[in-house]
Amino acid sequence: MRDDTQDQPAAPDSGTDSTQRFLDDVLDGLARSPAQLWPKYFYDEAGSQLFDRICELPEYYPTRTEMAILERSGPALGERLGPRVLLIEPGSGSSAKVGLVLQHLQSPAGYVPVEISGEHMHASLGPLREQFPALPVHPVCADFTQPFSLPEGIPEHRSAVIFFPGSTIGNFPPEEAARLLGRFRGLLDTHGGLLLGVDRRKDAEILKAAYNDAAGVTAEFNLNLLRRMQRELGAKLDPKGFRHQAVWNDAESRIEMHLVSQGRQHIAVGGRSFQFDPDDRIVTEYSYKYSDGGIRDVAARAGFDVTDGWTDERRWFNVLYLTPSTV
Ligand code: AVI
Repeated sequence: MRDDTQDQPAAPDSGTDSTQRFLDDVLDGLARSPAQLWPKYFYDEAGSQLFDRICELPEYYPTRTEMAILERSGPALGERLGPRVLLIEPGSGSSAKVGLVLQHLQSPAGYVPVEISGEHMHASLGPLREQFPALPVHPVCADFTQPFSLPEGIPEHRSAVIFFPGSTIGNFPPEEAARLLGRFRGLLDTHGGLLLGVDRRKDAEILKAAYNDAAGVTAEFNLNLLRRMQRELGAKLDPKGFRHQAVWNDAESRIEMHLVSQGRQHIAVGGRSFQFDPDDRIVTEYSYKYSDGGIRDVAARAGFDVTDGWTDERRWFNVLYLTPSTV
């Protein structure tokens, strides 16, 4: 892949800060070798709907496995977290899983969803407010990958617990994951904790199937990133010129999602042009799969000890409880 910028059409008027940030990130990522696009940009409206469909796929086991753990181990978990917990959820999305935790908490003090898209967050809080009408909810509109603070006026609580499910932590390389958890640690006092969903290392065939589903929904999800660039940045490109591929990198313990160029072609965006030759790749996502020791190391670097954990019968997924390190 080569940056062959000449007199390319200028970027459309960016309109908003977030469009400009998206453009800056795309230009930065496409100039790298291999080219890279950040997975947080998967989740526009179309991408969020595709992700919801991924969660229903027979091959994509993480969502239903984690939910089964939360259902089965909910009482033990509620006991461990104790009464009057303030639950904070970075990247709350559709807030689909938090009810499974809240229903087992004794007199929860409140819920703080943190989500970049305020609109998406407010729409998805409806069912939760119906299920827990007395629960104080204090939404924060923020990108949780950047530093954020808790809102003014949060209810008094015995302990604050950050809920970070879905193995979203796996989408960050371990050093970044440690930095992110370190920032979460900074929001807690010594009585707080972190309830973390982590996908475990397992047979490569199971992992590859989960990210190369037969119905092609993950492929659509991956290609939607290119379509989003067309829609929001006016990028000139042909999504059909790229093919979805997910590979297992055993040495790095991660699934890698790629968009593989099917021939020689260009992507023109923001006044720049990037050339792709056959088989050139854009890396769109890493999804790290952790051994128990691996996640303990990341936790320790962030200032946490793994003190409790729950898993499923096949031991495919872990829900872990981390507390601030005592040393
Ligand atoms: C959100 N994240 C944890 C998912 C994962 O499994 O890494 C995103 C995803 N990508 C492809 N399928 C699902």
